[in-house]
Amino acid sequence: MTSSADAVTPSITVEAHIGPDDRRRAMEHDVRSGLTAPAKHLPPVWFYDERGSILFDEITRLPEYYPTRAERRILQLHADEIVAAAGARTLVELGSGTSEKTRLLLDAMQQAGLLERMVPFDVSEEVLTAAAADIAATYGCEVHAVVGDFHRHLGTIPSAPGGRLVAFLGSTIGNLDPAQRARFLADLAAVTGPDDHLLLGTDLVKDPARLVAAYDDAAGVTAEFNRNVLAVLNAELDGDLDPAAFDHVALWDPQNAWIEMRLRATRPVSARLAALDLDVTFTEGEELHTEISSKFRPEQVGDELAAAGFAVVAGWTDPDGDFLLTLARPSSRPT
Ligand code: SAH
Ligand code: AVI
Repeated sequence: MTSSADAVTPSITVEAHIGPDDRRRAMEHDVRSGLTAPAKHLPPVWFYDERGSILFDEITRLPEYYPTRAERRILQLHADEIVAAAGARTLVELGSGTSEKTRLLLDAMQQAGLLERMVPFDVSEEVLTAAAADIAATYGCEVHAVVGDFHRHLGTIPSAPGGRLVAFLGSTIGNLDPAQRARFLADLAAVTGPDDHLLLGTDLVKDPARLVAAYDDAAGVTAEFNRNVLAVLNAELDGDLDPAAFDHVALWDPQNAWIEMRLRATRPVSARLAALDLDVTFTEGEELHTEISSKFRPEQVGDELAAAGFAVVAGWTDPDGDFLLTLARPSSRPT
């Protein structure tokens, strides 16, 4: 693992735990194993190159994509309470992206006279450094940005006297399968102390028609976001996959309570990823699984947190009951 700290301005530090070589190695591993498996699959982390991050931002403004608006509403209504209950002077945000909604927490921390430091943590360096600069300029607080993978680098989150509020918003935890979630939460519990709090955003189970519409919007932005992963592979692995040869598919799986996104070949596809010396073929109709987006029941969130070593302090939903924000603190270790 490489770790380097770069002072960009007096109040912004960017600490990179993923360099170009690590990124490339991780992608090569995921692509080789995922595209040669009997049921082809890729992890969602590769969606977020610069274009993917812009497309995700567009998704958050779509009429069908309610989660961002619902979570923002909760923060508008309850950020003061959340910040007072946590009492932290450092806000850490995992999978921070543009940190757009997070400004409601930063506003509340600043108004309470608490805000000293923000630690945005994301795998996507471009969007992270842009957000870090913007936050430092707006709030005048110290910003310590971490380029890292939350499956591997939680231990690198800087400690803070007086405790940290660790926000994991947007229901990004829903993009992890149950085993990954259990491990992620246990890893997080292991690196948090009695003064820290976790603020976890989770999208709730609801009418499947609304769920499917949120992942298959009329304007086709989610379809572009999904296909963009093929462009990422082409650019980084010298590939010639044709995104136009794939349909976007979004299905509700009621057994697993998740939306599944796939790319379905509309014709036989032969492609080459020259950097991997790998030839890939799809039969007509064959699918590549690109993302799950799990939807939760409120009691399940409490149970998963408890199993990992967190105790729920409080929870808030938006007035329509679409989304849940849960504040938790580390409890004694699970039995
Ligand atoms: N939190 C924001 C952004 C959600 S988009 C919101 O609520 O709107 C998901 C973000 O998680 C992206 O910025 C992506 O780059 C980041 N991400 C995805 N997988 C990650 C991983 N394994 N480690 C760190 N960040 C990751
Ligand atoms: C980041 N994540 C929580 C989004 C979601 O809703 O699962 C990603 C996304 N995929 C399609 N639309 C949005």
